[in-house]
Amino acid sequence: MSVRAIRGAAISFVDDPFLVEPEAALAYRDDALVVIEAGRIVSVEDYDPARLPAGMPVDHYPDAIICAGFVDTHVHFPQMEVIGAFGTQLLEWLDRYTFPAEMKFADEAYSRRVARLFLRELLRAGTTTASVFCTVHPQSVEAFFAESERFNTRMIAGKVLMDRHAPEGLRDTPESGYAESKALIERWHGRGRQLYAVTPRFAPTSSDAQLAAAGRLWREYPGVHMQTHIAENRDEIAWVEALFPERKSYLDVYDHAGLTGPRAIFAHAVHFDEDDFCLCHRTGSALAHCPTSNLFLGSGLFRVFDAKQAERPVRTGLGTDVGGGTSLSQLQTLNEAYKVSAMNGTRLTGLQGFYLATRGGAEALRLEDRIGTLEPGREADIAVLDLKATPLVAFRLAAARTVHDKLFALMTIGDDRVVRATYVAGDKVYDREGFGDGEQF
Ligand code: GUN
Ligand code: ZN
Repeated sequence: MSVRAIRGAAISFVDDPFLVEPEAALAYRDDALVVIEAGRIVSVEDYDPARLPAGMPVDHYPDAIICAGFVDTHVHFPQMEVIGAFGTQLLEWLDRYTFPAEMKFADEAYSRRVARLFLRELLRAGTTTASVFCTVHPQSVEAFFAESERFNTRMIAGKVLMDRHAPEGLRDTPESGYAESKALIERWHGRGRQLYAVTPRFAPTSSDAQLAAAGRLWREYPGVHMQTHIAENRDEIAWVEALFPERKSYLDVYDHAGLTGPRAIFAHAVHFDEDDFCLCHRTGSALAHCPTSNLFLGSGLFRVFDAKQAERPVRTGLGTDVGGGTSLSQLQTLNEAYKVSAMNGTRLTGLQGFYLATRGGAEALRLEDRIGTLEPGREADIAVLDLKATPLVAFRLAAARTVHDKLFALMTIGDDRVVRATYVAGDKVYDREGFGDGEQF
């Protein structure tokens, strides 16, 4: 059985820093030894050379912070080609850029090519788990899971369901969408580390019949996830009101179809009110905060501190939402999340930021018993962040006195260059310096 260890400063969250004092939420060790056996963490302790078993291979990172691999709770792998598409808000952006880009995934070879690039970009950014939208084409899901299985990454993904208000070639029907999703669940859900999400794109592109079929399918498979979009943009919300006049709210459309509950993740929720947050709390539904996307598409400012209110906290993670979002880096996403919080008159701390990107994301996806922290029993998905990654990072981090300062500076000026190495189930799958042959993968 393979045993190895990683040594360096390490952070992990033992509680939620939105709900308890920062000191009570963070476990920090200046010089830790994380021991990994058969893909899982077996111990995290202060490094002690006297107790190191003879012959144990140790990857030592002296100027780094080791943390759980990042969790991206909302992203579209087929949209890498439209990152940074100029000049539109959500609904026009979908028609003009996104739908044409997603058409290309009818081609299996193209799907495989983009899945390959996407997985490598995620790992380069230190992200080891994501909740991923594919396209309406089952072959896009097949390509994604096949690539994820190659890396043994714990991924959630699903075929987009969309039976109206989308171009020919991107539409399914309630029946075909149900049958294709069911076949993909049977083939992929729980195979190795792969997990399936029933994926209605958003209420405007699914008929009542399709939303009901999605709810039925989700209920038939306990353990399967559900992902969709909600309350992102004012025009989108007005459209939903016009399409579903009998429903109390946008969230009520999904609730009515049986699409709320544990393992449901709703992206954006920018224009939520108190009733919406309460319903999410009550049903155990989770939210994906997607700040780079919300700023880029001019959608609005998500209120993370409202979502996390102590009387009725809503499980919340961080989403890059590429290609509405502008970066696959969780650090860059946190950089924008802080600015969004500041515009709301609040202040996201470094601890809260790193919590969202790790344990918070895992909790939102109901995977906290498997990933998101460095503790015995967890799957060994790990990111190593280099405190000397660039001259600016080295200079700025040298001035940071506390771990709080360091984390906050890292999430402000850090990006994928900071990621020194990424481990998946204990295997180093990415090394910024290469593996000795110049190859990073
Ligand atoms: N709402 C429906 N589809 C999408 C999408 O692809 N991206 C974003 N940001 N919002 C959506
Ligand atoms: Zn999205």
